[in-house]
Amino acid sequence: MCGIIGYVGKRQALPILIEGLRRLEYRGYDSAGIALSDEQGVSVTKSAGRLSALEQIVDASQPHTSGIGHTRWATHGAPNDVNAHPHQDGAGRFAVIHNGIIENDRALRVYLQRKGVEFTSETDTEVLAQLIAQLYNGDLEDAVRQALHEVSGTYGMAVVCADEPGVIVAARKGSPLIIGVGQGEHLLASDAAAILAHTTQVVYLGDGEMARITADEVRLTTLDAMPVAKDVEEIEWSLDQIELGWHEHFMLKEIVEQPSSLKNCLRGRINLEEGAVRLGGLVDCTRELTRAKRIIIVGCGTAWHAALVGEYLFEELARIPTETEYASEFRYRNPVLDDGTVVISVSQSGETADTIAALTEAKQRGALTLGVVNVVGSTMARETDAGVYLHVGPEIGVASTKAFTGQVTVLALMACYLGRRKHLSSTAAAQFNAALAAVPDHVEKILTAADECKAVAQKYSDRDNWLYLGRGYNYPVALEGALKLKEISYIHAEGLPAAEMKHGPIALITDGMPVVVIATAGSQYEKIINNIQEVRTRGGSVIAIATEGDREISQLAEHVIYVPDTLEPLQPLLTAIPLQLIAYHAAVIRGCNVDKPRNLAKSVTVE
Ligand code: M6R
Repeated sequence: MCGIIGYVGKRQALPILIEGLRRLEYRGYDSAGIALSDEQGVSVTKSAGRLSALEQIVDASQPHTSGIGHTRWATHGAPNDVNAHPHQDGAGRFAVIHNGIIENDRALRVYLQRKGVEFTSETDTEVLAQLIAQLYNGDLEDAVRQALHEVSGTYGMAVVCADEPGVIVAARKGSPLIIGVGQGEHLLASDAAAILAHTTQVVYLGDGEMARITADEVRLTTLDAMPVAKDVEEIEWSLDQIELGWHEHFMLKEIVEQPSSLKNCLRGRINLEEGAVRLGGLVDCTRELTRAKRIIIVGCGTAWHAALVGEYLFEELARIPTETEYASEFRYRNPVLDDGTVVISVSQSGETADTIAALTEAKQRGALTLGVVNVVGSTMARETDAGVYLHVGPEIGVASTKAFTGQVTVLALMACYLGRRKHLSSTAAAQFNAALAAVPDHVEKILTAADECKAVAQKYSDRDNWLYLGRGYNYPVALEGALKLKEISYIHAEGLPAAEMKHGPIALITDGMPVVVIATAGSQYEKIINNIQEVRTRGGSVIAIATEGDREISQLAEHVIYVPDTLEPLQPLLTAIPLQLIAYHAAVIRGCNVDKPRNLAKSVTVE
C-alpha cells in the first residue's frame, strides 16, 4: 500500500527519493509524487501510474538537499494526478504525504471551506495540508502538532514547508515510520527497504510521536510536546535480501530461499540433545501462557492459513483449546475473552490493519497478546505483550511464501514449547524437534524437483477453475495453494477440506478440471484416496502431492509430485512448496505480473 520516503542532508535528494520509491514499489501503488524543498520554496511533482511516469516529468536540473516522496494506493479518490501525494495548501507553501486514513476529513473539509479554503483533490490528505497551513505561525512542528490534535484516524505523515527549508516534520499513529540515521543526513521511511541502501541505523517512531528532522538532528516528542528519548537500533536486513539478484521474480527468489529462511527461523531455538525449544520472546510470559485455558489465533490471508495449522498444532501438542479467526471478523464480533485467553496475531508485515485492530480489541478485553511477526519493530511487534519473530528476512513478493513456512515453523515451535510444559514427553518433543530440524533439507530436495511443478502449470494454466483438497494438517495448505494460484495468476481456485467436496463443490468437477489433492502418508490417507476416486469418477484431472515411496498413487493421479516423509504435523511445511511453485509457473505462463498482481498490495494497512 502507500509508501513514504524522506531525505534531508548534504546530498542530492531527488535520486535518493526516486530510489526509495522504487524500493517501495513492491507494496503496490497507483500513483507517485515528490516534493523538493529549498530556500526558493517547495516544488511538487506527481503523476498517476508507474514511477517511470514521474521520473519523466520531474525537473532534475535544480539541486535540492531535502524532500519527501510518496507512492499512493488509492482509498479516498480515484488514482489520478490530482489525488496523488504530496498535497499542498492553496499557496503551495506546504507539502504533505500521508499513509492511513483521516476519518473526520469531511467535517474538517467543511470547517476549512467555511474559512474560504478551496480544495483541489478528493483526498483526506489535502485536508491535513490545508489545516497545517491555516495553523502555521512560524513553527512547522507546532502547526503539525495542533493539526493532529484536530484529526481522528490513522497516519504516518511527513510535511515540508517553504519557510523552513531543510526541515521535515513527521508523525505517526497506526501507520509505521522509521528514521534512518546517516552521516550528516537523515532519512524517513514507512518501510526499511526504502532506506536500507543508505543506512541500517534506525529510530522507530512510536504511535503518538512526532519527529522534527534536519540533516544534523532528530528531535522526538509526543503529540503533547513532551520530549522522547530513543536508542538508535540496527536493522538486521541486508541489501541483497531486498534485491532481485539473478532471479526473475521476487516470488521465485523467496520460494527458493526457504531452506535458508527456515534455517534462520530455527537457529538457536531447538536443542536436539535435550529435546527442548528455546523462545526468548516468551520467557517473561511462560507461566501465564502455560495456564492459558484457550488460545485464539488471528490473521488475514496467508497468515490466517498458517494460523489454522497452528490451531491443529496447539491442540495436538499442547492440548490447549485453540480457535483460528479472521482478524476482520474477530474485531467486530464481540468475542468472549477472559484473562485465561491468549490471543496470538500472525502477520508477515506486522502492519495489517485488521489484525492490529483485532489485537487492540483483545488487549482492551484483558487477554494476553502474542505476536508471530516477521518485521522487527512493526506495530504488532510493539503492541503485543510478547512474541516470536519469524527471522525469514524481508518478503518483497506480494504473494506470501517464505513467511507462510516461517509462520508455521514458529507456531510449531511455540506448540512444542508449551507442550513440554504440559503433556508432551521429552521423547516426543525430541522426535518433533528432530523432524523440524530436518525440514530445511527436505524443502531443498523438493525444490530440486521443481520441473514437475512447472509441467503441471504448463498443462493446466489455461483452465479457468481449479480445486485444492486436503485433510487434517493439509487442509490449510489446500486453502493456501488456492489463494496462491488465484492472487497471482487470476485463475479461479477453491481450497477445501477434502470431505466437504461431496457437500456441494463436487458439482463443479467436469472433464479435465485440475484438482490438486494433498495425499501424503498419514492418519487420513485412505480417506483422501477415496476423495481422489470421487474426483476421477467425474472426469477431474488429479494432481497429487504424495509422500516419497508411494508408488500406488501414480495409478490414480495424472501427476504426482513427491515430498519427503515427515511427521504429519510438519507436512504443511513441505506440501506448501509445490503449490507455491505451481502457482508461480502458472502466473508466468499466463503472462501475469507475478510480483505486482493487479489490485493487490503487499501490506494491507486499511480496513
Ligand atoms: O502482512 P500480513 O501477513 O499480515 O498479511 C496478511 C495478508 O494480507 C497476506 O498474507 C496476503 O493474503 C498475501 N497476499 C497472500 O499471499
